[in-house]
Amino acid sequence: MADVSRETSSSDDHIETATEIIQRIFSDGTAGVGSELAQTQAEQDEVNKSKFSHPSQTRYIAVANQKGGVGKTTTAVNISAALGEGGLNVLVIDMDPQGNASTALGVRHDEKSPSVYDVIIENTTMADVIQTCEDFPTIDVVPSNINLSGAEIELTQLNDPMHQLKDTLRTYMATVNKHYDYVIVDCPPSLGVLVINALCAVHEVLIPIQAEYYALEGLSQLVNTIKLVQESYNPDLAVSAMLLTMVDNRTILSKNVCAATKEHYPDLVLDTVISRSIKISESPSYRQSVIAYDPKGRGAVDYRKAALEINNRSEDVIRLLY
Ligand SMILES: Nc1ncnc2c1ncn2[C@@H]1O[C@H](COP(=O)(O)OP(=O)(O)OP(=O)(O)O)[C@@H](O)[C@H]1O
Ligand SMILES: [Mg+2]
Repeated sequence: MADVSRETSSSDDHIETATEIIQRIFSDGTAGVGSELAQTQAEQDEVNKSKFSHPSQTRYIAVANQKGGVGKTTTAVNISAALGEGGLNVLVIDMDPQGNASTALGVRHDEKSPSVYDVIIENTTMADVIQTCEDFPTIDVVPSNINLSGAEIELTQLNDPMHQLKDTLRTYMATVNKHYDYVIVDCPPSLGVLVINALCAVHEVLIPIQAEYYALEGLSQLVNTIKLVQESYNPDLAVSAMLLTMVDNRTILSKNVCAATKEHYPDLVLDTVISRSIKISESPSYRQSVIAYDPKGRGAVDYRKAALEINNRSEDVIRLLY
């Protein structure tokens, strides 16, 4: 066991960083929690050195996967929070009647609050329903509430049911006195009209994949739907990234799923994976992203790294897809 009693590493003037102290204390690798802490701190230091840059034009990203509970909302919220924390302007659109993204970003979304339902069904302008996230004031949110659950049927009675979100979003973007770096849409777990509205309004799809046994099942169905939307409605649409979520590196299954997904989609799967973390699952009950709730923890560090990776790819993605 390393000498944990020393306060400083040597007699020279070098002042140890927090990472170095943790690494020194746990350098013999006997303490799992300690070495995990050291790694998180080292990664945090690395992320802190990197800066988020403004993409040369607004990136429109839908976070989608028809499978329930794979981390879509957690990803939409925390990637947005990391980008917002990094000084970028983000518009988050909650397209799920569950309103989970609205909860996690701390905006009002009771039945009486103006929401995305009013925007796509009642022609209310987006500016009239947008609320700003308190934790990260560069994040604006179009909230959702239970009213949206009836919208699937109501949309089909409209003239152009698939383009309601796109039309209203484009009008807002053309008139608002502000530049957004990212528009991020959280989709519900289906391949219905609401999701197709989201896919028509964006250029990119970010697919969160839960690191578990059935992870890749259903993915081909999602990819087919994206192709269909591309052929019929939105030729500019493509999957730009996949993100492995709820990864537990202690299990062989989790490692195998990550390896298999990377093998199938080598260019799309982000290098960063999101570890399973209690703080991530706790944060929505405090109406917060994990970036705000536990800024130094594993979950926040993972999502910052993922957001940086997405941000660093901006110019390549824009050249290819916009
Ligand atoms: N990395 C993680 N570690 C621990 N818990 C997580 C993690 N990511 C998500 N969760 C939890 O898993 C559950 C499902 O996550 P989330 O709501 O983001 O999935 P979803 O795909 O949006 O679900 P739905 O399909 O219902 O919209 C939530 O309780 C969330 O807090
Ligand atoms: Mg969700």
